[in-house]
Amino acid sequence: MREVLLEEVNQEMINFNNFEQIILKYEYAKRTLETEIAILIDEFVHKHEYNPVEHVKSRIKSQNSIINKLVSKGYIPTIKNMKDNVYDVVGIRIVCSFLTDVYDIVSMITNSSNIIIKERKDYISNPKESGYSSYHLIVLVPIYLSTGKEYVYAEIQIRTIAMDFWASLDHKIRYKFDNSIPEEVQEEMYNSSLAITELDRKMLNLNELVNRYSNQNKE
Ligand code: GTP
Ligand code: MG
Repeated sequence: MREVLLEEVNQEMINFNNFEQIILKYEYAKRTLETEIAILIDEFVHKHEYNPVEHVKSRIKSQNSIINKLVSKGYIPTIKNMKDNVYDVVGIRIVCSFLTDVYDIVSMITNSSNIIIKERKDYISNPKESGYSSYHLIVLVPIYLSTGKEYVYAEIQIRTIAMDFWASLDHKIRYKFDNSIPEEVQEEMYNSSLAITELDRKMLNLNELVNRYSNQNKE
């Protein structure tokens, strides 16, 4: 990987000056994706009389984070490099109650003809070394401008409440230690990720038990 020189960064940062105008496209993509996902969830709720989603959060990556990401990946921070190499300028996180809900949401999005799936990463079946667990989709979202149709990348993270709980503490720890996390903390976080996996399994079984009882009562 070629190291990005500071002069190059300074020079190219100038090209980021009209960032606010460029980021508008990402803002449209975020809105489009939010609406698409809200409708898909709504349809699911009507069809199954059950809401699998606890909450949905979305964000646009800050200009600084985009530049840092490009530089850390060995790219000069240009608008073109951002468009081609940063897939999470638009990010949506869907937090579900149960493990099965996560996979229902994934197939619902996969089946949507409006969203193009570019890549999927199942960190639930294959958790990261840290213990991080979630399902990620990198997608292309169409936006309709007066100049025509364009596609914008977005990252969708789908996880359970328990996984979200773990990830939010992990995120704080990473921020606090600037990524050089003491080994003991890493180990404890990894162990708690195992407990999270076990808890998700138990909650799913418990929910199925509850459903069996309530179905019996209906009969
Ligand atoms: P990057 O975005 O550069 O990390 O690209 P990547 O290809 O490594 O993507 P990956 O799917 O690993 O991570 C994308 C996003 O998932 C990150 O921006 C975080 O939001 C989340 N994530 C990944 N790993 C971890 C982790 O260990 N802890 C936490 N809290 N979040 C993580
Ligand atoms: Mg990563």
